[in-house]
Amino acid sequence: MKKLFALIAAALPAFAFAAGGNVHLDEHRTDLHDKASLQRGAQTYMNYCMGCHSLEHSRYNRVAKDLDIPEDLMMENMVFTNQKIGELMTNAMRKEDGKTWFGATPPDLTLVARVRRPDWLYTYLRSFYEDPKRPWGVNNAVFKDVGMPHVLADLQGRQVKGTAQVAVGYDTLTGQEITEERDGVLYLAEEGQLSAKEYDKLVFDLVNFLTYVAEPIATERQRLGWWVLGFLAIFLIPVYLLNKEYWKDVK
Ligand code: HEC
Repeated sequence: MKKLFALIAAALPAFAFAAGGNVHLDEHRTDLHDKASLQRGAQTYMNYCMGCHSLEHSRYNRVAKDLDIPEDLMMENMVFTNQKIGELMTNAMRKEDGKTWFGATPPDLTLVARVRRPDWLYTYLRSFYEDPKRPWGVNNAVFKDVGMPHVLADLQGRQVKGTAQVAVGYDTLTGQEITEERDGVLYLAEEGQLSAKEYDKLVFDLVNFLTYVAEPIATERQRLGWWVLGFLAIFLIPVYLLNKEYWKDVK
């Protein structure tokens, strides 16, 4: 048993490394019950991502139903191809073209939140920075030499990597923030259409939506879980009484 624990302990850092490299990942507090957030995320996805990344294991009408979006509004505002509401969410990009244009085919993202996890996605979409050596002029802190352009750059602004003052904590006596000069940090050289806070929120909603799409049944599963636990709790009473009845004459 001891050996087994030692083995697991030894493997843990390797898993952590595989998931996020050596970069710190910001936490995404996924909230699948926040319908407004999921709707905003869906809208952003359709506007900025769908052209390259399909969601081919999902259907428009399923998303409309789950997120309380009336079907006509969904068709008007989120379906930009001549597809029907019951169809799978595919796009018109051919795989070979994607590969020629970007060096890598943009993958389908239906299940990406399960593969990469929400924290990684939340960090990834906020970690593009300028790098003139790359074909699209950007690199990414958690996905080195990424083939994807920074499609949200107009919203976020110009993010660069360099030396900057970062907050490392608070002075317990004065309550003032303590900063330290660090190298290799990402910072905004120029604001975009959104403030840093608004941009974080946009990405939060987007990742919320991707997490929903990766497992549309998640909230239903949780809801059912409570019923099952409730049933078991109630079932305990007859089982207890029955047990007493059986053993009555034995003792
Ligand atoms: C212009 C085309 C294009 C658009 C638009 C685009 N991407 Fe990408 N994306 C790519 C390409 C190409 C890759 C593959 C990069 C690689 O493998 O180097 C990629 C990779 C990714 C990955 C990593 C997938 C993985 O697990 O390897 C994620 C996540 C992602 N994109 C999310 C998004 C999101 C979210 C949006 C919308 C905000 C978006 N992309 C818009 C082209 C695009």
